[in-house]
Amino acid sequence: DTTVTIQPAALGFTAVAKNKLDVVTVPAGYKVQIGARLGDPIATGVAAFANDGTDGNYAQRIGDHGDALYWYGLNTAGGRDDNSSFRGLIVQNHENINQQYLHPAGPTAPGGIRPEAEAIKEIECHGVSVVEYVEGANRSWSYVQNSSFNRRVTPNTPATFSGPAAGSALLKTAYSTNGTAGRGTLNNCANGHTGWGTNLTCEENWAGYFKRGAGDNANRTAREVTQLNRYGISQGAAGSYGWATVVPADPANTSFRRFDLTVDTTKPADGTGDYRYEANQFGWVVEIDPYDRTIAPRKRTALGRMGHEGAWLSKTIAGKKLAVYLGDDARGEYLYKFVSNVAWSDADAQAANRIAIGDKYLDAGTLYVAKFNADGTGNWLPLVFGSVPDRPAVGADPVYVFQDQADILANARLAGDALGATKMDRPEWTAVNPVNGEVYLTLTNNNASVRPLNGTDAANPRHYNDPKGATNQFGNPNGHIIRLRETGDDPAATGFTWDIYLFGAGSDLDPANINISGLTADNDFSSPDGLWFGRPQNASGLVKPVLWIQTDDGAYTDVTNCMMLAAMPGTVGDGGARTITNTGSGGATATQATRVGAPATAATLKRFLVGPVECEITGVDTTPDGRTLFVGIQHPGENGTPAAPSSHWPASQASGSAGATVRPRSAIAIITKNDGGVVAL
Ligand code: FEO
Ligand code: CA
Ligand code: CA
Ligand code: CA
Repeated sequence: DTTVTIQPAALGFTAVAKNKLDVVTVPAGYKVQIGARLGDPIATGVAAFANDGTDGNYAQRIGDHGDALYWYGLNTAGGRDDNSSFRGLIVQNHENINQQYLHPAGPTAPGGIRPEAEAIKEIECHGVSVVEYVEGANRSWSYVQNSSFNRRVTPNTPATFSGPAAGSALLKTAYSTNGTAGRGTLNNCANGHTGWGTNLTCEENWAGYFKRGAGDNANRTAREVTQLNRYGISQGAAGSYGWATVVPADPANTSFRRFDLTVDTTKPADGTGDYRYEANQFGWVVEIDPYDRTIAPRKRTALGRMGHEGAWLSKTIAGKKLAVYLGDDARGEYLYKFVSNVAWSDADAQAANRIAIGDKYLDAGTLYVAKFNADGTGNWLPLVFGSVPDRPAVGADPVYVFQDQADILANARLAGDALGATKMDRPEWTAVNPVNGEVYLTLTNNNASVRPLNGTDAANPRHYNDPKGATNQFGNPNGHIIRLRETGDDPAATGFTWDIYLFGAGSDLDPANINISGLTADNDFSSPDGLWFGRPQNASGLVKPVLWIQTDDGAYTDVTNCMMLAAMPGTVGDGGARTITNTGSGGATATQATRVGAPATAATLKRFLVGPVECEITGVDTTPDGRTLFVGIQHPGENGTPAAPSSHWPASQASGSAGATVRPRSAIAIITKNDGGVVAL
């Protein structure tokens, strides 16, 4: 039954209070079910998860740190059906791990030679899962352990490169001497969904996994050192989790060795004998066909290499080019967009060969980086070889001269520097309003060392101290959400207008200069991250889609666990100009002019959900009928120990408590409305 009746354009639930309970809290009249959790088996014959650190074979289990997710409908015959709300595939990213809970008593030799079996677990807990879900009687949901669609993509899954950087000298390794293939995907954060039915998964904080020897700079060109420095892989980096230290039982197994970038001077200078260029294989947007597990993930190099948070597409408008909006999540990084060379054709929406449609739209086009101007306009600056100037010297790194388009794409941050793009307060998810095409971007937070009191600009305008928490948090500790409207509503436009839709803040903070959006106890939040507009409904469905906002916070967590809010935003320009007085440490002040949207109201912004202890809320979608909401609950209890877990969720959900040693698990919360209606309305 997928009949949808006309819905009012208003948020129809009672706001959830901030809290620190170890459960997912939802409004009265809603129910929480638990979907697939860390370690749940997704293949026939795989044992149930013991959750005591003894489990293996994570390549056939749900990975850890579930992040972005998306529903891909199936009909009763098992074919793709974009309108199906009772059977479908959920594609979910697995960004990282809570290493301590994956082994019986935490990791063995965390700073030394890691055991191969432990490293395999940790590696296989990363990547992507594709899992079938079905709705049973009485709105009960379950995943299907033995579905033939179920799939894990891990950092060991063979992948291919396409687009302008495929085959580049930058991508050559001992594994792929021609630079066209690689192994797997890593630190998959947010996502994208294409109009042809595929999924985009984004490689975010991959840089931290790589080791690089203390004397490695001496064996590299100045260009290579600049590239590595700009992407945060310093000489002497140890590499998270020590995977490169594993001595595998099979000496020919290079799947651990590749995490050590140190140049082997006995090997060819072109990198084909070692893994000096392995880091260039990560930092891409990767396309996956959820409906065909035989197709290798395809890394789309035209979309550039960075700390890719997400990759959300513009509206598909027949005859108009497609845009993909791309946040690079690190402090002071940029917002990018990719524009396809070809215009969208509706005939491609249901094509059988989906990955070939991806080739058509995502391999040829122009990557741009955003510059936000003080007057509320902005420019998209093209990252095209020949028009990008040299990147000036920074610190010990000399002037960087680009060599070709592959160089520009693989080192997009250097190209953004050269073009004078606007440094942002950590660009996270992008979302596109399906009604008017406006683009929203979460800027989760920034600190005083990266952006001091005199380092603000109109698009990143606040600098203050959030007095909550144990330490001073000067900078923009609560984050904001900026939005932009393309000139002529054309995704390919090179200009836009913008304003700041919402400022995160505690409702107790200064309404003139900090709590600028007028947040109240029912909707105050900090550090926005996940962002998604509800699926547009058919003609008799949603009038005005809901914007879901998810938090990944460290500044307000002394007051409340992370949360998800529902919003009904207006449009760019519905507020006006504003001058803020900022305050730095020591009491110094400075003013900053900016553009702000209309204040939030009880009717346009409400807290819908609060998560369990030490979680991040990330990942959201609904069934196409809007009646079932899927929400990712990431790393509950992330600061606990195997002996004393700090959360017991999801075991704690049913009773509000669980045994004191039950380990927490990242999992999908499935939320339905008791009256059967559309969630949030
Ligand atoms: Fe993985 Fe930027 O959050
Ligand atoms: Ca995120
Ligand atoms: Ca985040
Ligand atoms: Ca997290």
